[in-house]
Amino acid sequence: MANRDPSEESRRQFLKFLLASPLFACPGMAALGADGVAPRPRPTDPMIWAPLDPQAPIASPKDAINVFDFEPACRKNTPPAHFGYVATGIDDEVTLRANREDFLKFQLLPRRLRDVSTVDMGVELFGTRFDTPIVIAPTGGNMILHPDGEVAVARGARPGNHLFILSAVSNYSVEDVTAARGAPVWFQLYVSPDWSVGMALAKRAEAAGCPVIVVAVDRVAGRNQETMFRLRREDDRDCGACHSPGIPQRVLRRHNYDGIDMSRLKNWESANLTWDFLKQLRDATRMKIVVKGIVTAEDARLCVDNGMDGLIVSNHGGRSEDNGRSTIDALPEIVAAVGGRIPVQVDSGFRRGTDILKALAIGAQAVCIGRPYLWGLGAFGQDGVERVLELLRTELKTAMQQCGVRTLKDITPELVRRA
Ligand SMILES: Cc1cc2nc3c(=O)[nH]c(=O)nc-3n(C[C@H](O)[C@H](O)[C@H](O)COP(=O)(O)O)c2cc1C
Repeated sequence: MANRDPSEESRRQFLKFLLASPLFACPGMAALGADGVAPRPRPTDPMIWAPLDPQAPIASPKDAINVFDFEPACRKNTPPAHFGYVATGIDDEVTLRANREDFLKFQLLPRRLRDVSTVDMGVELFGTRFDTPIVIAPTGGNMILHPDGEVAVARGARPGNHLFILSAVSNYSVEDVTAARGAPVWFQLYVSPDWSVGMALAKRAEAAGCPVIVVAVDRVAGRNQETMFRLRREDDRDCGACHSPGIPQRVLRRHNYDGIDMSRLKNWESANLTWDFLKQLRDATRMKIVVKGIVTAEDARLCVDNGMDGLIVSNHGGRSEDNGRSTIDALPEIVAAVGGRIPVQVDSGFRRGTDILKALAIGAQAVCIGRPYLWGLGAFGQDGVERVLELLRTELKTAMQQCGVRTLKDITPELVRRA
């Protein structure tokens, strides 16, 4: 390009680099323009005048103003590879960014002059009442962030009576986590290429009192977790001590697998997963079956047609494939396809009470949260988890009051519109 000011050119290159970098994928940051040139970055959440300073993490959970405050504190307290595992998306992390940016595609339409002096955020899911529609999404191997792992998360979920969905690849067993939560948890299943492993896990979950099994159907191939790979290079610890290759080693500290025959497994991802497995599971269990990882109306319809009890719209927090589409963008067409026949939940990118309220208004029954409680866990253990959830509950309650709704039943599609 002729006669371009070299300093302007290097500024543009630098901004382009910043915006392409997953580490700078801040909430609300705009993607590259159509011409590949970076627009000026949007300020990080919440304001340009007092942005969150990643170099000055909070020292205590009570110092947190919002859930983002926990991420730098988590980074400070956890090894780079472990923090990278939480932060990472896939490839260019377009989906990861879209999960945040696309909340800007929706606006709330607050109503006035309604008595909102008392608010009830309670929700009933498959006959059980929870005090909030904010759900703990399943995340594996929480001991990478804190020695108490999923037990700390379960305890942190107690004060707010949150539904806890436990990952199959948790460090603590479903029995231990149920005891720590003080109530039944839902169990998320990775089927594995050997379906008998999936069936054995399902049996264990049922015996542990789980009323619902959540089958994750969006992890069928390997994944290019570039942010994690790069941060792993900064880690000077001997990762081999815990991460030696081989399936038996992989499940050593994943106690749900104790006693399950893994000998026929050559790899981990369920590339052979089809509706046939879900039919077999339907016949084998009394648990309700919820399918996690649905991102299209077509698959949502198939969930209903195949007798599934519920679904979770999820792109695994931008960690399955870099398909480029946020879940909040996909939610309206999925809700329409399901037509109220089964409950729809959603996750990926939810960080604010207003994000949650938008999804509820579109038609989700509940919203699952992933990374924010992991940041809380890595930063301060159980206390951090508790505070993250408290902040989200407070934000949702405030957003409901400001929008003139007292209960989840009052939250209707009239409350939201596409911008
Ligand atoms: C570190 C990490 C581990 C995860 N592990 C699992 C898992 O074991 N099973 C699963 O179904 N989803 C897993 N997920 C995806 C979450 O359940 C959820 O879909 C996602 O975190 C939601 O997006 P968010 O992190 O932006 O809130 C994981 C996510 C993260 C960040």
